[in-house]
Amino acid sequence: MDAIEVIVAKRDGGELTAAQIDWVIDAYTRGEVADEQMSALAMAILLNGMNRREIAGWTQAMIRSGERMDWSALDRPTADKHSTGGVGDKITLPLAPLVAACGAYVPQLSGRGLGHTGGTLDKLESIPGWRASLSNDEMLSVLRSAGAVVCAAGSGLAPADKKLYALRDVTGTVESIPLIASSIMSKKIAEGTGSLVLDVKVGSGAFMKTPERARELAETMVALGTDAGVRTVALLTAMDRPLGRAVGNALEVQESVEVLAGGGPSDVVELTVRLAREMLEAAGISGPDPAKALADGSAMDAWRRMITAQGGDPDAVLPKAAETMVVEAPASGVLSRLDAYAVGLAAWRLGAGRARKEDPVSFGAGIMVHAKPGDLVRAGQPLMTLHADETARFERALEALRGGYEVGPASTEVLPLVMDRIT
Ligand code: URA
Repeated sequence: MDAIEVIVAKRDGGELTAAQIDWVIDAYTRGEVADEQMSALAMAILLNGMNRREIAGWTQAMIRSGERMDWSALDRPTADKHSTGGVGDKITLPLAPLVAACGAYVPQLSGRGLGHTGGTLDKLESIPGWRASLSNDEMLSVLRSAGAVVCAAGSGLAPADKKLYALRDVTGTVESIPLIASSIMSKKIAEGTGSLVLDVKVGSGAFMKTPERARELAETMVALGTDAGVRTVALLTAMDRPLGRAVGNALEVQESVEVLAGGGPSDVVELTVRLAREMLEAAGISGPDPAKALADGSAMDAWRRMITAQGGDPDAVLPKAAETMVVEAPASGVLSRLDAYAVGLAAWRLGAGRARKEDPVSFGAGIMVHAKPGDLVRAGQPLMTLHADETARFERALEALRGGYEVGPASTEVLPLVMDRIT
């Protein structure tokens, strides 16, 4: 077999055979298929798609490219959540300890932000001392002591996806449903969780801009998980506006701690509790009430154990940006729009995100949103506070926000927070 045969088959709209898929993923992982050949194939897949059989074969081949983790030694069920990424999406931070406090183990391999979306590991790294890289033995030990572990995937997990994702990122081939679904699910299945809840974001700040595309992605991923023996359910949730009020690494940790202390913005609390219920149901745990575990401090206790077990100090003062700038309401009326993509892009330009994988992030940079769509505002009232380490960053952030918010006579429609549930 050779790479050209596989590329030409997909370029001409054909179906790849199981043997072709297995060969190309294995040969690419070993370096026998070159990056330029794999990018041609990824583009052919983006343009011509793959059917369910091909996507399942592609996912399984990526899983087989590396190790598969096994939590069968644990005495309680495992449950995980994956979000397709958004702006202000800090849900993993309160959710993982909350679900642990309710009786499941949460082994979560997370990623870093790229572009306008934030990454869970960048957020947690703003806590002094916290470590993202753990060996498999360390993961097991944190799980046993804290009930939840959030860390980076080791190099042995789905290495084919690691290589392919980096290639897609620079060849305009990220936005393919078969490639996104197989990328996410190969890592989640290899991670060894018994059940999985997918939070598929919809709207300007998400990969999937329309409910139709998000539903297709969700259905594809649920089928992949179910076929692999992982109890999988997906929620479609709103990402037309930022989630909560904090966007940026340390700012989002602060907001998550407020949620764990029984406060925090209502949308973050609602989504955290809903996802926790879904995770517990998927794990077969009934009885514990996540809303109660937030109120009685047991989720906070699990958070403190989880952060401490990974070297972090839950009482440490979080990094703060040196400079702030207030964006005021241009008129009196209703804030009718606050675009998630514009806010994410502005936070990124303030230093909260990175342009290249190797860049550092500023832990203190980001945006605090003071008004959400539907709120009444007065002219001159603060709408947002921008945080950055240098004042020079404010101008480009303001440019990103231009046209991203509107104050008008009446509210426009926003997406419901939870739009659909797919099983
Ligand atoms: N996240 C992933 O892990 N893979 C994708 O392809 C997109 C988002």
